[in-house]
Amino acid sequence: MKTKLCNATQETIEEAARLLLEGELVAFPTETVYGLGANGMSEDAVAKIFSAKGRPQDNPLILHIADAEDLGALVQSVPDCADALIKTFWPGPLTLVFDASDVIPANVTAGGTTVAIRMPSHPVALDVIRNVGQPIAAPSANRSGRPSPTDAQTVLTDMDGRIPMILDGGSTQIGLESTVLDITRPVPVILRPGFITHDDIQKVIGLVQTSTHLSTGDHIPRSPGQKYRHYAPRAKVRIYRGESAVDTMREHQKILRDAKKTAVLLLFDQDIRKEDRDVLSLGCKENLAEMAHLLYKRLRDADARMADEILVPAVPAQGWGFAIMNRLEKAALEETL
Ligand code: TXA
Ligand code: MG
Repeated sequence: MKTKLCNATQETIEEAARLLLEGELVAFPTETVYGLGANGMSEDAVAKIFSAKGRPQDNPLILHIADAEDLGALVQSVPDCADALIKTFWPGPLTLVFDASDVIPANVTAGGTTVAIRMPSHPVALDVIRNVGQPIAAPSANRSGRPSPTDAQTVLTDMDGRIPMILDGGSTQIGLESTVLDITRPVPVILRPGFITHDDIQKVIGLVQTSTHLSTGDHIPRSPGQKYRHYAPRAKVRIYRGESAVDTMREHQKILRDAKKTAVLLLFDQDIRKEDRDVLSLGCKENLAEMAHLLYKRLRDADARMADEILVPAVPAQGWGFAIMNRLEKAALEETL
């Protein structure tokens, strides 16, 4: 199959919608990362997502809608807390998990009783969904296990020949996937941290829990996607903590260089020295949104340089830093659990 990479225009968005209605896959930008879309009401179309990505069948998908009125038909009920969350954070990078209504194809929910739904804020995503007139099932548009794509060219790298069309809407603003919040429980639980933080949510609905496996790593995750090695480049990722992290990174880089291997340093701008080699910027230390925006791109840039290892400093696991560390720790896992 030939993959067309098109600038997102009225015309190409309409063409994308036609393809989606015919049961084909189209990649499109959202404010978080690029999504690999299929008609979310068609089991056959959704099945193509799993084969194009090489995604495990037990990992459910997020349905994307463009209007809050479209929610009612997809869920059993809308819990009290949902209204305030939707008013505050939709459209935007918050995915909510509801009890699923029975119209939803089984492969969207991976056979489970719940369904994840979000309303993206990216105008191209909203236009695509409205033109299709159906919810769009869309995981991140990477091959399973790889870092999510934050620009159209990266989607092409992973999906060339596997899907008919990629809509190019430039590089995505946020760069990490949406926060996933399970609101089917008495106390809502964050299953995947993201740009909308625990504190942001708590301010709106009161008490919120963070799924214990996110911090301890030793519980069976409720969000199936959280159990695999994920977001991972080909190179081995090493995370460095503490005050002397950057010095230790440089020492390790030198040891590898002496052994004729390449380690790429990911460093904040203020830590980069003129004499550093094989170094890529994480932006400014005081603005973790910049690191979130750049992280997946940097992991892939390091792969493009044929790095054996990627050395990266830990950041405080609070606010956006919590989402960043969640992705980094998964990227650094040796293998699937
Ligand atoms: O920002 C995003 O959320 C992007 C863009 C494209 O919208 N999408 C995305 O989808 O990251 P994906 O499939 O790569 O990640 C979805 C996550 C997975 O960890 C999955 O296990 C979890 O959401 N998930 C989906 N449905 C669920 C459900 N019913 N219950 C619990 N977790 C669910
Ligand atoms: Mg993903």
